[in-house]
Amino acid sequence: MSAQLIDGKAIAADVRRSVGERVAELKESGIQPCLAVMLVGENPASRVYVGMKQRAADEVGIRTVDERLSPDTSQEDILAILEDWNADPGVHGILVQLPLPDQIDERTVMERIRPEKDVDGFHPINVGRMTSGDPDAFRPCTPAGVQVMLEHIGYDPSGRHAVIVGRSNIVGRPMAAILSQKGPYANATVTMAHSRTADLGAITRQAELLIVAVGRPESVTADMVSEGTVVVDVGVNRVDDPSRPKGYRLVGDVAFDEVAEKASWITPVPGGVGPMTIAMLLSNTATAAARLGGA
Ligand code: GUN
Repeated sequence: MSAQLIDGKAIAADVRRSVGERVAELKESGIQPCLAVMLVGENPASRVYVGMKQRAADEVGIRTVDERLSPDTSQEDILAILEDWNADPGVHGILVQLPLPDQIDERTVMERIRPEKDVDGFHPINVGRMTSGDPDAFRPCTPAGVQVMLEHIGYDPSGRHAVIVGRSNIVGRPMAAILSQKGPYANATVTMAHSRTADLGAITRQAELLIVAVGRPESVTADMVSEGTVVVDVGVNRVDDPSRPKGYRLVGDVAFDEVAEKASWITPVPGGVGPMTIAMLLSNTATAAARLGGA
């Protein structure tokens, strides 16, 4: 492997340390930051993520409250809980883990979260503010975390060609908005590719910074990457592996071993972007608590 590793665990630990300091200051001034977390259904990956988010919050001194709801919960019941959290001065951040079961309209749920408590940055008000360059808007945690990673390795995307593979509202789309903005560690020329892109390799080979978030295991291969590219792999996929105790292992969307031979920097999976998502959620929650106080 010739690429240097972007150590998401270590960078996230740094972010968490600084969030811990902010939380301690808030507590001294009488504010106990609190994150409310909702998980609907039994999606095994979502259960793991929610558990990790709650543990991480606990470690930095953020209190959590949670609602774990059955897969057949009605939308009305979900909205009623959100209304309670919106009105509760003791709750500063609200997170509804996605995806939601089919009977629930995600958009309706996201729009019900009070924008000041929307620490995921998914409410259309925050999406609009962020996209139009408001530095105070909550930024979705995964793309915000990727930008922090670039900062930590000293890679300024300004003037570079960033290719983002994936157009989800959680990662690809906000990532494009963040990197193309005027501002520090941004100013990139951005191309967004997706499942209908013709000749994806021809596009990804143009990337100086390649960010992949498509949810297809090891689908970006060495022939699709140019020498010296900075590669950020957002994918986390379970693939069967009978040799592992759990019967599976986690791989990214990038074929790590072969792409690492060509990249200048690369994120591992696990231990890359994943820990950053959680660290940025904690950071957004501390910000929400500082803004809202006990109100
Ligand atoms: N599902 C996958 N990523 C995320 C995230 O960042 N936030 C929420 N709420 N759900 C997700």
